[in-house]
Amino acid sequence: MRALTDADVERLVPINEVVEAVEEAFKSFSLGSAVMPLRTRIEATAYKGDILLMPCYLQEMNIFSVKLVTVYPENISRGLPTIHAVVLVADPSTGEPKVAAEARALTGMRTGAATAVSVKHLARRDSRAVGIIGCGYQARWQLLALTTVMKPDNILAYDIDRDRASSFVRRMKEELKCEVSLASSAESLARESDVIITVTTSKTPVVKAEWVKPGTHISAIGAYTPEMSELEPALIKRSKVVVDSLDAARAEAGDIIQAVDKGFFRWEDIHAEIGEVIAGRKPGREGDEEITVFKSVGLAVQDAAASKVLLNHLNTR
Ligand SMILES: NC(=O)c1ccc[n+]([C@@H]2O[C@H](COP(=O)([O-])OP(=O)(O)OC[C@H]3O[C@@H](n4cnc5c(N)ncnc54)[C@H](O)[C@@H]3O)[C@@H](O)[C@H]2O)c1
Repeated sequence: MRALTDADVERLVPINEVVEAVEEAFKSFSLGSAVMPLRTRIEATAYKGDILLMPCYLQEMNIFSVKLVTVYPENISRGLPTIHAVVLVADPSTGEPKVAAEARALTGMRTGAATAVSVKHLARRDSRAVGIIGCGYQARWQLLALTTVMKPDNILAYDIDRDRASSFVRRMKEELKCEVSLASSAESLARESDVIITVTTSKTPVVKAEWVKPGTHISAIGAYTPEMSELEPALIKRSKVVVDSLDAARAEAGDIIQAVDKGFFRWEDIHAEIGEVIAGRKPGREGDEEITVFKSVGLAVQDAAASKVLLNHLNTR
């Protein structure tokens, strides 16, 4: 069995292939061929941390993976990553473990891939202005994956931590070779963007309904517990809402759970799972004025798909 670091994973795995694999995996999941129980969440209450265990058998790709991911939002103030992760990948035909890998980078890639897939299927084709709220670890991967499916003219970035936002802007300008600038507020960013990505650890909404122009696509990545939220309930109400998994959304998608609890939205109002849109079972965007929201909580099928890409590249070396 091989043991890999995040640096190995980053060197080996092309992100465009992760985007394609995650698109396939979302489809397999919604068509019912992926074996993926709801993830187990253990709260380390004393440390305000979460420990998540995420197994998946993805039959079409002939892969089994199980990821242990920990989310400690207070780590960032101690100079430590919010997320740590490791993945164990096995061959389902023999059960033989093939790889044990650090999985921060893999998580970043497959989460960025979710946004990219949502943009491909739900954003207006003429979208050019991108805004990203939250400039932490995931943010870079969000933009690296996004730019495999669209070419933004301008990217605006905002974070409550202004220094973090400034260094993110500098790094992404260099890496993407496109216009990236600092937004003065979440409001100005939202008002100017065709595609908005929210990737924060916030427990209160970072985007208000009145700021969002018709035709915008929003990929809401951050909130993964009932207590967290990035989008105002009124914004959920105004939007066509697509999720990664209906079951996982009911259990974990704070943005939707809070909108339902406050009477703004009903569970039946969710338009589709993204996999249903990819498979052509439900329509994606149906007009230039629609506001579309993709709410991701993160699925183990994404880890399995990204692990498959990793394994493919290991096998060719
Ligand atoms: N959906 C998924 O599949 C998935 C996958 C990985 C991570 N996540 C979630 O994404 C979030 C971000 O992860 P990360 O690793 O980048 O964390 P991080 O701690 O590195 O970055 C979070 C950033 O959000 C900023 N922020 C917090 N509240 C804000 C607010 N109100 N307005 C603007 N910025 C704000 C912080 O200052 C920080 O820079 C976490 O909640 C994590 O659990 C989701």
